[in-house]
Amino acid sequence: MPDEQLMPPSVAVREAVRILSAHGVASPRVNAEELTAYVLGVPRSRLALAPGMTGGQYARLRVLVDARAGRVPLQHLTGTAPFRHLLLSVGPGVFVPRPETELLVDWGLAAVRGIDAPVVVDLCAGSGAIALSMAQECPQATVYAVEDDPAALSWLRRNAAGSRVSIVEGDATDPAVLSTCDGGVDLVLSNPPYVPAGAFVEPEVREHDPARAVFAGPDGLDVIRRLVPRAAVLLRPGGHLAVEHDDGEQTSTVTSMLLADGLWGDVADHPDLGGRPRFATARSLAD
Ligand SMILES: C[S@@+](CC[C@H](N)C(=O)[O-])C[C@H]1O[C@@H](n2cnc3c(N)ncnc32)[C@H](O)[C@@H]1O
Repeated sequence: MPDEQLMPPSVAVREAVRILSAHGVASPRVNAEELTAYVLGVPRSRLALAPGMTGGQYARLRVLVDARAGRVPLQHLTGTAPFRHLLLSVGPGVFVPRPETELLVDWGLAAVRGIDAPVVVDLCAGSGAIALSMAQECPQATVYAVEDDPAALSWLRRNAAGSRVSIVEGDATDPAVLSTCDGGVDLVLSNPPYVPAGAFVEPEVREHDPARAVFAGPDGLDVIRRLVPRAAVLLRPGGHLAVEHDDGEQTSTVTSMLLADGLWGDVADHPDLGGRPRFATARSLAD
């Protein structure tokens, strides 16, 4: 039997780019390379050095490319999402963590620098991206992750297995949830649902991110409105809050909300990697 002819990965990538572009997938080359690397079992950075693809591998790639062309998220196809130094397990039932949220963690790490054993709470934890990053990058921290959706909780448990993150099952805005920590938390971080109901979102989000993770009432602020006062009770005097929000009108609404109730100082807003306003921060003035 003659050896099977192997297809150069560059040829497979070119064909995948063509299909993904024709279906309007954003960043078609990145997606094509990621899927080809996934099928070959190599990191994307090593794709140029990978051996050719067998017929079986190419057939598998075509199935994945067709699914991606049908707007299944790349991360659902590979089963993982990179976030800072983590590779999180994700799939149906949990929100895929986004790169912009990595900056919220940077801010959080700076906010607890110099505190010996900070207590950190991630409200609306999803896959655990924020909580697990804080635990990994601030090893002296005690970290709680609050989530109330059963499907998201099962992904969270899987990602947090073996970590130091304590999972709390419940409504992040409920005063009874984590009430033992009231007044003792150094940092509250949150990427809650914040998209206005009915707003346009890409098919990947509309059909594959859980609606509860994305939408929050007519102006998108249903959860943030209840979460900010809850954070004020959780935090010790001088403790810090960072909450992600929409890049439109919510920017001024969230900062106004923080300024209006007299409980917060150092209110500021911060841009994401694309320069759009993305998260608000404040320091508790309670005494
Ligand atoms: C936008 S996702 C963010 C997940 C994760 N923090 C991240 O950045 O990838 C919001 C998460 O909040 C959860 N959630 C929504 N409302 C909640 C509530 N009231 N209490 C607890 N979790 C909530 C959703 O199930 C979802 O997992």
